Amino acid sequence: MSNKENFGSKFGIIAAAAGSAIGLGNIYRFPCEAGANGGGAFFIVYLAIVLFMGLPLMLSEFVIGRRSGKNPVGAFKALANGSKGWGVIGYLGVLAAFLILAFYSTVAGWTIDAVGKSIINYYHGLDKATIQNDFQNLLNETWQPILSEGIFIFLTAFVIVKGVTKGIEKYSKILMPILFGILIVLCIKSLTLPGAKDGLVFFLKPDFSKITGKVLINALGQAFFSLSLGMGALITYGSYIAKKDNLTSTAFAVCISDTLIAVLAGIVIFPAAFTFGIRPEAGNELAFVTLPMLFDQMVGGYFFCLIFFLLLTIAALTSSISLLEVPVLYLTEQLNMNRKKATTYTAITVFILCVISSESLHDGSPLRLFGASIFDTLDMVSSTFLLTIGGLLTVIFLGWKMKKSDFMDEYTNGGTISMRLRKPIYYIIKFLAPLAITVILISQFIK
Ligand code: PFF
Repeated sequence: MSNKENFGSKFGIIAAAAGSAIGLGNIYRFPCEAGANGGGAFFIVYLAIVLFMGLPLMLSEFVIGRRSGKNPVGAFKALANGSKGWGVIGYLGVLAAFLILAFYSTVAGWTIDAVGKSIINYYHGLDKATIQNDFQNLLNETWQPILSEGIFIFLTAFVIVKGVTKGIEKYSKILMPILFGILIVLCIKSLTLPGAKDGLVFFLKPDFSKITGKVLINALGQAFFSLSLGMGALITYGSYIAKKDNLTSTAFAVCISDTLIAVLAGIVIFPAAFTFGIRPEAGNELAFVTLPMLFDQMVGGYFFCLIFFLLLTIAALTSSISLLEVPVLYLTEQLNMNRKKATTYTAITVFILCVISSESLHDGSPLRLFGASIFDTLDMVSSTFLLTIGGLLTVIFLGWKMKKSDFMDEYTNGGTISMRLRKPIYYIIKFLAPLAITVILISQFIK
């Protein structure tokens, strides 16, 4: 159906999709959200959402992408059996990609700054107050964040211009397993700290009385953000998956590796935060203050710190590539723009928005919207609302608009692989997932 490049190998697709999923969402945003939403209560809800909503939605996106062989806007239009209006889900995705890229690049800029500080062994011997102060100063700086954001967006655009298999696959294959290895070493260190028990209890022990509407929506938004769902990134990747590949095992592998990395990040960060006296609700500081302090206590800390922040930057890059690919593919396929031009225009627009987002974090900055900094508003609007609404519309589309026979045909590779779970999966996509997402969205408005 599609004459586009396909991913070179089975491992290539998993690596690229996992590369999209694993990023700042796991190591920076997951601990922030877990910390702000009651720890264990958030964690248990998060796991249930990944299993019952994340996995089915990921399969839906793969099916829609591979069936149509198109970008999200084109895909919904092509599979809607002639009825109009469904392309809007694709447009929502293109919008979400823009907004996410803007604040994502801000955080990636801090990560690049941490790489620079690691190279010169800057963190060595510093106390908590100094690292906290430095981080606040960075938020208040004008040019330094702009420079690192610019570098990050440039690198993303560079890989995108080079094309799909050559660009994405090459980078993600080797590096993600190394990141995983370092996280394991960090876990071991963190678990030997005096605050380990308190940190683990906070992170893992569910207190069901703390599950509120806010916890539910934040867990839903975080799950979709972390798994790269609800905005068509995985529809785009689905359009590159070869017809013979097994979609279920690919989706399973991506969900498991993404969740594992988030859990490991929690096991690293909370014990260390409790040991160093950093509050679990501290937000940005959880990753950018706790981790440098942890490295400084380790044998070989210089080396681990440098490699870790470097790999985190690369993990962020493999995610931002998948974000940028969404508008670029839309512009090239729907509006016939050439790839280089589409990438340049998109990257420049994102850069401008990113500068506004990072400047909004200055103390006393007037750049505020809905009572929060533009940075926080971009995060909230895109992850909590656009992704969840995009995800909801996607499962509704697959369950109620697309032909069931088309789903079954694509899902079973034209009937060549037997999928015992195909019926339950289909019914989860058709009934359970839309219902659950709707209930969670509505629960926000009921006090
Ligand atoms: N999943 C990425 C992360 O966890 O860092 C962020 C992301 C990438 C979100 C792609 C959405 C997306 F489409």
